[in-house]
Amino acid sequence: MSSSHWFERAKAVIPGGVNSPVRAFNSVGGTPVYFSSGKGVIVQTEDGADLIDFCGSWGPLILGHARDEVIETVKKTAEQGMTFGANTRLEAEFAELLCHQIPEMDMVRLVNSGTEAVMTAIRLARGYTNRRKIIKFEGCYHGHTDYMLVASGSGLLTGGISSSAGVSKTATAEVFVAPYNDLESTQAILAEHGDDIAAVIVEPVAGNMGLVKPAEGFLEGLRKATQTAGAILIFDEVINGFRLGPTSYGHMCGVHPDLTTLGKIIGGGLPIGAIGGTKSIMEHLAPLGPVYQAGTLSGNPVAVASGKKTVELLRDESPYLKMEILGQRMAKGLQHVATEKELDLHCAQLGGMFTPFFRKDVVTNLEGSKACDQEAHARYFHHMLQHGFYTPPSGFEVTFISGVHTHEQIDAFIEAFYQFEG
Ligand SMILES: Cc1ncc(COP(=O)(O)O)c(C=O)c1O
Repeated sequence: MSSSHWFERAKAVIPGGVNSPVRAFNSVGGTPVYFSSGKGVIVQTEDGADLIDFCGSWGPLILGHARDEVIETVKKTAEQGMTFGANTRLEAEFAELLCHQIPEMDMVRLVNSGTEAVMTAIRLARGYTNRRKIIKFEGCYHGHTDYMLVASGSGLLTGGISSSAGVSKTATAEVFVAPYNDLESTQAILAEHGDDIAAVIVEPVAGNMGLVKPAEGFLEGLRKATQTAGAILIFDEVINGFRLGPTSYGHMCGVHPDLTTLGKIIGGGLPIGAIGGTKSIMEHLAPLGPVYQAGTLSGNPVAVASGKKTVELLRDESPYLKMEILGQRMAKGLQHVATEKELDLHCAQLGGMFTPFFRKDVVTNLEGSKACDQEAHARYFHHMLQHGFYTPPSGFEVTFISGVHTHEQIDAFIEAFYQFEG
């Protein structure tokens, strides 16, 4: 049975046929692909095609699909019981490992998704500071809690407008939105509303408007400004964590937030999230402190086993230099082809994170990302799919290169891009 067969059946019983909107291919058109299996970076589809996967489940699969050691530990752990709703040794070991790899985190609490991690981090920041308001940045995505679903456009010093129906105005009125990489705007909000600001939350390397790197001094400036205002700085590293090194990006760049949120990679492909930070803040979480947080499946042994093995492999094998080399090869190769063929393209790349922006100029914020030619991206997506490469089905996402992609696969990708007519 084909992808279209399953999509038709799914549409009758699942809203839009999907369990997360971007999977519906609305940005690129056409029928979403249904996957049946994956090993390494090769996935099989229900249409009988083999594709080279450059989406990696939106980030978690840094070691590729179904890595033997991860599968082995998942199987073994599952056989011993899927959940206890009580404590296991694995949780303590995993928390120790995460705090060791990210020394700025004294303590960590495990949850079930990135959304939940951010929700907890915000509540904790509010509970700790006894303040309400939050500053976020345009184009940064922090999951789908009410107050994080705030779009830009309403001016810096007014409350944001929700980008979703069903979100109460009171939730979004407590969120200020500043342009990414614009330190002055953030400082201005903090100067005027500092006493009310509980937290500033940012993706240190933005990955949800395509890949946008932090400008020099931006993160350092946020650190300083939040310290002065007495606000909590949250680095949302649900994508960044363990993606660019066997630690957090905050640790790598030497800017240390008060709280870090993690997800994706630290579950090794199973659902997980985490929030970590300094002891003095983390001890405000229940049962030690007054900030409530709980979860039936939090710290689930199977997810923890998968995440722990993945983080251990990343620590021991450190595929990061290889990913940087592959990433550079990809970005330079595509840029070279684009120049030769006079296509408007700018490739952003950092380690195994890569975005081909369909415009000539560097993208530094959401405005720049929105100015890209999304129709050209849709044509590119389908062209690459026809040539056997699965890339994220949206121009506002990151293409993920894993530690198990090969030089030959990158070269084949560039070769296929050479056939792209724009
Ligand atoms: C930076 C960031 N934070 C939070 C989230 C939400 O994570 P989840 O989809 O696991 O709820 C995402 C998801 O893509 C993300 O990229």
